[in-house]
Order: sequence, then C-alpha cells, then structure tokens
Amino acid sequence: MQTCETKVELRDVLKKHHAANQMIVLVPTMGALHAGHQSLLEQARQMAGKDGVVVSSLFVNPIQFNNAGDLQTYPRTPEQDLEICQRAGVDYVFTPTPEEMYTGVRSISVEETYLSTTLCGASRPGHFAGVCTVLAKLFNIVQPTDAIFGKKDYQQLAIIRRLVRDLDIPVRIHGAEIVRHENGLAYSSRNARLTATQKEEATVLRQALLQAKNEFRAGVPVAEVKANASAMINKVAGTEIDYLEIVNAETMQPIEENADPALLATAVYFGDVRLIDNIEL
Ligand code: PAF
Repeated sequence: MQTCETKVELRDVLKKHHAANQMIVLVPTMGALHAGHQSLLEQARQMAGKDGVVVSSLFVNPIQFNNAGDLQTYPRTPEQDLEICQRAGVDYVFTPTPEEMYTGVRSISVEETYLSTTLCGASRPGHFAGVCTVLAKLFNIVQPTDAIFGKKDYQQLAIIRRLVRDLDIPVRIHGAEIVRHENGLAYSSRNARLTATQKEEATVLRQALLQAKNEFRAGVPVAEVKANASAMINKVAGTEIDYLEIVNAETMQPIEENADPALLATAVYFGDVRLIDNIEL
C-alpha cells in the first residue's frame, strides 16, 4: 500500500493504471474508519479483483461542515485508518491536507439544488455543496472507473448519482448496505463521541425505524407512522429530533401517501452528538 499526500503524487502513480485500462475503484472517506468503511473497502477490493486497483481517500473535508464545533470535534484516527486500509487490501491511500486540497481562494462550488433541499440538506446549509465540490475534485484527480458509498448517507448517495449524471462524470456509483452493531446501532464515526449509556440509548433509532416499516407496510397513514416513530425516540431522555421524514427514495421529497419507493430518514441528537439513520420502507 502506498500513501500519497499530494494530488501530483497520486495522479502520477495512477498514470500506469489508466494507461493499462485497469479498473480503479475509489472509496472516499473522512477517516475515523469503522466496520462500515471496512465493508466498503472490502467490496472495493472484491470489485477491483487482482487486476484492478483500490484507492481510498482519508480527508476531513472542512467545506462540508456547516458548524465549526462539529469540524473541530470530528474524530481523527489516522494511524488506525491506515491499518484498516492495509488490511482491506487498498493499493493507494490519498491523505491531503486542506491546504493541498483547496489551493488558494476557492471561488467555484458544485451545488445540487433539488434532492438536497430536504433532510440533511435542509438542516445543514452548504453541506451538500461541500460534498459535491470535494467529490467532483476527487473524481477528477483519481478518474476512477467505480466509486462506492454507504447507504447510511442515503441522501448523499442520491445526490452523488445526480452529480455524475448531470456533470457527465464517467464513473459508476455503487451503494453499499448499512453495517450495524448487533444491537442495531449503525456504525458511524460519530459513535466514538457517545457515552456507553448513549450507545445503548441510540438503539432506539433502529427500533423506531423497524416499527415504522411495519406500520407503513400495514397501511398506517404516513403522518401517523412518523408520529409514532418520533414518540418512541422522544421517550429517551436527552434526545432531540433534528428531522424525521418519510420521503420518496429517489427524489428525497416528502410523501403523504403510502407509495413506493419510500424511505424513512432521521437525524437525532443524543446530547450534542447528531446521528443519522434510515430505512427503505
Ligand atoms: O460520506 C463521507 O464520509 C463524506 O461525505 C465524503 C463522501 C467522503 C465526502 O467528503
């Protein structure tokens, strides 16, 4: 495994793989890698096979944080991240500094204006423009044939599909299933900031999602499904729901009728830690 800190270095090492028309599978991350990322890296390795290469980026992208405190407290575990990449069979790891990534004063931003008007896009202004901008850059730097993203950030995945479609970026986008602890809590880098008690309490998210899915399938009206899920979460002291919404799983727009394809997505604060989760209904 080779680590590249600069764009020039990474482009340089990838030249021979492009020239040989090899499959190049990219897994963009912000580090603080956990079992969810590990599964993305392993899927990338499998997809690339022995003839292809796997590239992963570890970059806490400052421009996608709408809150300075969140950026400051975002977990960082660089040594452990490299070990996980190595074990998963990654060939190249890209670890730029913010100065390397954003040279000079940035005056171009890539903005998605429809799918990002709801859910995390509504509650984190500028977040998805930051995500789209850094991914447009990463796709240009790496020029991967394929890229893999987790479904925990379901809205992000939908926006990325739109990004490559609307900007004609020649990369195949793959969505990977959410990886959960045995008790149902989805793996997240932010879990590292939860107390042991909060980690237990946060399992209410999964319970609320499963209950909502059963009710939705049984034809309970959408407003009632949402109210019941919210009530279950609100029963846990110290939680604050940022949003809990049932949307069309492709357009990300709220729906009022029980129609497919539907997605329940939620963001909930446990103390000052904001967790997201979702379920296809
Ligand atoms: O999902 C993430 O970790 C980030 O949003 C991503 C896709 C790596 C862009 O910074």
